[in-house]
Amino acid sequence: MADHTNLTLDVQDRIATLSVNRPDKLNALNEQTVRELGQAMDEITGRDDLGGVIITGVGEKSFVAGADIAELSRMGPVDGVDVSRLGQRVFRQIELSRKPVLAAVNGFALGGGCELALACHLRIAGENAQFGLPEVKLGIIPGYGGTLRLPRIVGKGRALELMLTAQFIKADEAYRIGLVNKVVPKPQATEGGEAPSAKDALMAAARQMMGTILANGPIAVGLAIECATRGMEMSMDDGLALESNLFGLLAATQDMREGMAAFLEKRTAAFTGR
Ligand code: COA
Repeated sequence: MADHTNLTLDVQDRIATLSVNRPDKLNALNEQTVRELGQAMDEITGRDDLGGVIITGVGEKSFVAGADIAELSRMGPVDGVDVSRLGQRVFRQIELSRKPVLAAVNGFALGGGCELALACHLRIAGENAQFGLPEVKLGIIPGYGGTLRLPRIVGKGRALELMLTAQFIKADEAYRIGLVNKVVPKPQATEGGEAPSAKDALMAAARQMMGTILANGPIAVGLAIECATRGMEMSMDDGLALESNLFGLLAATQDMREGMAAFLEKRTAAFTGR
């Protein structure tokens, strides 16, 4: 991977783990970090040896505590449009990735950090995670797609409550309203042994969920993401047409033959992504 200043990339078992790495600023997203996220996603989606991406923040305290307020504080209206468009473009790239992207939320996911998690296909939170869109406290609104994605995920009433009150919610409440798929409890120390860190437990759970996804047909996984994402942005009739066309396209893949043959022969499928 190209050198990045504010990101780290770790690759293991076809899973890329992308960590936002500005821990002294609670992993706040400055412009450079947003650009690097876009470049890293380009690289990952172009690599055949990688099946999926986990996005997290370095350390135990914060996933991403928002856009970099020091940088935002200097913007004028024209810069404001540019800042928003850059974040929207990169987060849309994540949302439309055909490789599954999972957010492992290890602490604060605020403002642009919450929006980053919302752009991912799935969200797993550590018990210490906190979510919020506190932009109105700063006199702005979420500008990286959060005003659109949060209502689609949790419904308009709950989304507006978060956006208008600027209050943070904890992981259990985020789970209750459907903002996260799973909460990973902090591990307890075993007799005579130290407990693994909350971050290690979270990453293990994220890798396990990603591993389950990567055992399935990769083209089918990618097209399911596309149908669910684009389908929500279309009329029912257009969405159904997209679904039937992609369903038909899958019938042209070796993976469909292999998946069905494996079922009938009572064996595990060996998908090739062809
Ligand atoms: N942008 C820029 N810097 C940020 C930041 C952000 N979004 N969030 C945190 N930081 C920086 C702090 O300024 C501080 O830097 P410093 O040590 O150079 O002063 C450092 O990260 C640690 O943050 P601090 O506020 O001291 O930690 P805390 O534990 O007391 O509070 C938060 C944690 C998350 C509650 C608090 O940092 C916060 O409210 N951050 C802003 C959240 C926000 O409004 N995000 C939306 C932005 S659009």
